[in-house]
Amino acid sequence: METIAVLTSGGDAPGMNAAIRAVVKVCATRGIRVLGVEGGYEGLIDGRLIPLTRATRKGFVPTRSVQDHGNTGGTFLGSARSKRFMTPEGRAEAEETLQGFGVDGLVVIGGNGSLTGARFLSEETGFPSVGIPATIDNDVGCTASAIGVDSALNTIVEACDRISDTAAAFKRAFIVEVMGRHSGYLATTAAIATAADAVLLPSHDRSADEVVETTSAVIRAAFAADRDKSRVLIMKAEGMDVPASLLARRLEESLDGTDIDVRATVLGHVQRGGPPSSFDRMIAGRMGFVAVEALLDGRSGVGVVWQATVEGGEPSSDPQLRTFPLTDILAETQAMNDGTSPVVQWRRERMEAIQGVLAL
Ligand code: F6P
Repeated sequence: METIAVLTSGGDAPGMNAAIRAVVKVCATRGIRVLGVEGGYEGLIDGRLIPLTRATRKGFVPTRSVQDHGNTGGTFLGSARSKRFMTPEGRAEAEETLQGFGVDGLVVIGGNGSLTGARFLSEETGFPSVGIPATIDNDVGCTASAIGVDSALNTIVEACDRISDTAAAFKRAFIVEVMGRHSGYLATTAAIATAADAVLLPSHDRSADEVVETTSAVIRAAFAADRDKSRVLIMKAEGMDVPASLLARRLEESLDGTDIDVRATVLGHVQRGGPPSSFDRMIAGRMGFVAVEALLDGRSGVGVVWQATVEGGEPSSDPQLRTFPLTDILAETQAMNDGTSPVVQWRRERMEAIQGVLAL
């Protein structure tokens, strides 16, 4: 391979830039030119490709932008959720662009939508494409973690520590809503890390009334005279579809007769920004390395996963990383979404097992 292109797509995640840097550096050491695609698949269709390596007498070196952004959040290449790329026509146009720029292989850094795009590009056009999972939601199948999850969790923990300070000053209860789309991963993990009192997950079988009733009971018990709690923190996943402010209002109504205030904070996009954690930089670097190796080995339509959560896939030069066909990764994603994946069942069982512990 002489030229590899790299793009970031979908919701940005801290560590995407570190993954781009890794891809560029590994390619440069192997004498491969790298082009960066601006604006995800949209930019690919439109031919917005820029050099990420510079030729010197000693070979390729990364450009200044790669070096400057490697440790920053967001994605310096820009991102998009491309509707055009969801069609076979759009993907055919993208493949023409890649051929026109003399690109031999593509690395796609993003979440499920982005990896689905890479899968269809590789299946329909035969263009060599490898995916790297990056999304704060941690909802990509087969991988224990995607790039960005750890950074988002650290941000949530820091925010909850701040909220706990003010909550304790007034002996208040707070509903803190965290991102994660349909996945409750950030909510459950953050609940454990912050010693929250309860976690509200996406669920189709609980009415708003039931949620109010059980949460109200948790708050009453926490602030009971025989307990010594200074604050109550309820971690709410955004996929749990009662708005946080409405929940807070309904809880206050249900706590009428007590002097307990309930407040709601929606953390929102704060969770997506900021510098990547050391863990995210580390997995980004290692995933980038293995993604380039996979392309050089002639692999296509595969994704790199960190500490595989299911059997299968192919080993890589890194003992913690394997490559799986994107079809397998996306099938496992689907199973996680519909609750049939053993990974999700295990997580649910663990949460049920610790509900009492959380509330203490
Ligand atoms: O997929 C990442 C994510 O941040 C989700 O957690 C959230 O639901 C969504 O993206 C928000 O999307 P947008 O940035 O388009 O508002």
